[in-house]
Amino acid sequence: MSKAGYSISNLVADLRDICANFTDEHEILIRVRPLAQRAALSKDAWLEKRFYQADSDQGFGVYLLYEEPDHRLAIFALSWLPNRGAPPHDHGTWAVVAGVDGPEKNVFWERVDDRSRAGYAEIKKTGEKVFDVGDVIAMPQGTIHSVWNETEAVTLSLHMYGKHINYTERSQFDPKSRTQRPFKVKVTGW
Ligand SMILES: [Fe+2]
Repeated sequence: MSKAGYSISNLVADLRDICANFTDEHEILIRVRPLAQRAALSKDAWLEKRFYQADSDQGFGVYLLYEEPDHRLAIFALSWLPNRGAPPHDHGTWAVVAGVDGPEKNVFWERVDDRSRAGYAEIKKTGEKVFDVGDVIAMPQGTIHSVWNETEAVTLSLHMYGKHINYTERSQFDPKSRTQRPFKVKVTGW
């Protein structure tokens, strides 16, 4: 175990244990939440300087810290450039995000159309919250949110998912043009 007490391999072992023992998403999320917070507050055990190098095209950097061979149970560090963010999107699986360095604004959305037209989606804002260091967001599958870094510095958060997000059927949404399209991200591995 590291000096900070909780490394990514510690987190992986605990997440694997939870997913082996529970299939109900709610049961998984309530158990993952405190682990995510613990890992976020133990950044000395795993955080590397290079994770702060966000991709200027997409506005954020995605660093893969772990995934199962079948892409399940994926863990990422995400860095967010100042005044950049991610559009409204879902994940195609459960998602838990913990703040590691700096506040990140999350806006939550709800799908309100009848889903009868391919590529068409109406979403409406339901709330927003700024998540800071050690705060955790646990999102069941189907949750739609957008993320924005309102600060003047690069922020960083720790993300864990029931499956690698480029291997789920997930979408990004544009509330103005009322469109829905696939959402893939550029990922940097180890
Ligand atoms: Fe997300």
